[in-house]
Amino acid sequence: MTQGYFITGTDTGIGKTWSTIALMQYFKNHGKTVLGMKPVASGCIELDGQLKNEDALLIQKYASVSLPYQDINPYAFELPVSPHIAAQAVGANIDLDEIVSKYQQLEKQADVVLVEGVGGWRVPLNAHQDVADLARQLDLSVIVVVGMRLGCINQAKLTFAAIQQAGVICSGWIASCVEQDMLMLEENIQTLSLAVNMPLLGVLPYMNHLDPERLSREIAIES
Ligand SMILES: Nc1ncnc2c1ncn2[C@@H]1O[C@H](COP(=O)(O)OP(=O)(O)O)[C@@H](O)[C@H]1O
Ligand SMILES: [Mg+2]
Repeated sequence: MTQGYFITGTDTGIGKTWSTIALMQYFKNHGKTVLGMKPVASGCIELDGQLKNEDALLIQKYASVSLPYQDINPYAFELPVSPHIAAQAVGANIDLDEIVSKYQQLEKQADVVLVEGVGGWRVPLNAHQDVADLARQLDLSVIVVVGMRLGCINQAKLTFAAIQQAGVICSGWIASCVEQDMLMLEENIQTLSLAVNMPLLGVLPYMNHLDPERLSREIAIES
């Protein structure tokens, strides 16, 4: 049975991708084959005649199995704006059923599949559906990445309340230290632990560059 996780976070730019890569490394170190997916990405550049995104390229690079880019990132948009707007700008529509069927293909090929969301939990994907709907349709356990910076307690509480309301399963949260010297980091983590009342799966230290092996050592999740 494939283990699947949906990686969301308190905001954009707070460590979802680094956490996803750290988790991929963690599961690989535990003898599992791992694939990742970034179903929707805005802010892409053209490479080899195809729009590609930095997050999806990293996820492709760290996978156990080599996959074509479009299997990892079926919806790639050039503009770095909310995905439903980026899609609309090119006359496209993000179809969640299409993403689910792509996910099911990946599921057949690895022990663990990690799906990185886009932005935060309630980011719209089309006129009627958002990231929460995608996580629900994929029927995956959610991992919340909290970007440790001023304002994160409020963002985390709102995110967890919305996740609970969506009725999805949550595996826990990751504290992602995106600032080199956050004031009162320990106190913030303690407050968050009490507030969200979910397992803390790891505290990822601030790093000058991405070192998946180093980050993976901070993670503990059932494998
Ligand atoms: N542990 C960390 N230490 C230092 N910088 C980090 C860390 N995690 C993320 N960052 C910085 O934040 C940026 C955004 O992280 P990323 O994982 O791409 O966020 P998201 O996927 O949520 O948009 C990274 O490019 C990096 O510069
Ligand atoms: Mg990302």
